[in-house]
Amino acid sequence: MRMRRKRNLEPRMEACADLLLARGKPCKNLKEAAETYRALLDFEHVFGNTAPVELEIGCGNGGFLLEKAKREPHVNFLAVELCTNVILTAMERTKAAGLSNIRFLNIPAEILECYLEQKSIGVIYLNFSTPLPEKSREKQRLTSMRFLEIYKKILKEDGRIEQKTDSAEFFGYSLNRFEEAGFTLTDVTHDLHNSPYAGENIVTEYERNFSEKGLPIFRAVAKLGQTDKICTSAADAAKEQK
Ligand SMILES: C[S@@+](CC[C@H](N)C(=O)[O-])C[C@H]1O[C@@H](n2cnc3c(N)ncnc32)[C@H](O)[C@@H]1O
Repeated sequence: MRMRRKRNLEPRMEACADLLLARGKPCKNLKEAAETYRALLDFEHVFGNTAPVELEIGCGNGGFLLEKAKREPHVNFLAVELCTNVILTAMERTKAAGLSNIRFLNIPAEILECYLEQKSIGVIYLNFSTPLPEKSREKQRLTSMRFLEIYKKILKEDGRIEQKTDSAEFFGYSLNRFEEAGFTLTDVTHDLHNSPYAGENIVTEYERNFSEKGLPIFRAVAKLGQTDKICTSAADAAKEQK
């Protein structure tokens, strides 16, 4: 179902222009844009400081990042969201909260490399990315190899991805792809809300809906580089669930 365009969308987007770093596609073909277009962000100029930068892809209404930015004022956050209607809510909420450490990109994640320097991001958050179970849409899954190759370029050498989802199938798929792409899995849980990680967890809008229906929440961290933590492979994680 197509979402109805928000009332006064354009003037409201204009009112949030100071938070919005990019909008739309630089050209029709995403692959061509990703390969050729560059408008790399200077984070020090954008945020006015040299604090580390973390990224959420598919931020929705922004509930997760707003809370994260409040809890961690010495970290800068970028929020990527495809849907203009939705990112508008996130930007208006950020303005109302007076937060200065969040900025927004209203772009498809396929073209992140157009805006982000290589090895510039410490953490990527993938919260309840659409599972897209149809075989024909595999490439659009935000944990498909196509996206993991992009994340590997923009993540710092010791960077990581934190994923949460309600879909067991999508979770299993993602764990396998993370390992295939050379990430190391840590902190894997098949029931986040009843795990040691529950205390610091920020519940997102989708997460609240799913857990109110009694569904368990899956969560994993996929790290680049060396890690001294005890790791759980995708195979171990699958066994643990049985
Ligand atoms: C299911 S919602 C989850 C929203 C939020 N993270 C939460 O947990 O409440 C997924 C969001 O990802 C966005 N999205 C999907 N594919 C995307 C892409 N390729 N690039 C950027 N955003 C994307 C959708 O527009 C949608 O708002």
